[in-house]
Amino acid sequence: MSQQFTPNNPLPQEAKVPGEIAVFSPEVEAEIDRHLAKYPVKRSAILPLMFIVQRERGGYLDPLGVAYLADRLGVRITDIWEVATFYSMINTEPVGKYHIQICKTLSCKIMGEPKITEHVCSRLGIRPGETTPDGRFTVSLVECLGSCGTAPMFQLGFDYHENLTTEKVDEILDRCERDEYVFQHGRKDEL
Ligand code: FES
Repeated sequence: MSQQFTPNNPLPQEAKVPGEIAVFSPEVEAEIDRHLAKYPVKRSAILPLMFIVQRERGGYLDPLGVAYLADRLGVRITDIWEVATFYSMINTEPVGKYHIQICKTLSCKIMGEPKITEHVCSRLGIRPGETTPDGRFTVSLVECLGSCGTAPMFQLGFDYHENLTTEKVDEILDRCERDEYVFQHGRKDEL
């Protein structure tokens, strides 16, 4: 009889992890252990663990952080990258303190996203996917952020800014440039 694969009996796979992996404090290890204990199958904890490793590695998943996740979850490096590159909440490259993720999906597109993107980018002197030379601002275009009724919108850290106009964008960027912007819901290297 062929083998049945179930959540408690996942597809067997070889977890090949390179020698060097990220190292975390006992407190972070304990936090990770608490999440792992919630799931009967270790790999199910992939997202909460990714958030922790992203926070601890300066706001993005670097190769050592990815190797750590593969090791702790008993999965392949490619399994980690598959998930990390799917979700826009996970960064796979360094981003600035002010990471502006502009929704480019239909409602936002119709309601003025191109104008907002053009305005943000020309003001910062970068294109989507780039970070300013001083490393402070990153602009990304992302898929629907679930705030279609208040389009156009972008996410800054974990804060949503909705019904955007170029004036609102200027007001937000002014505060960021003066380092007076207060994150209501935190940044990815803080949570
Ligand atoms: S289309 Fe932009 S939030 Fe949904």
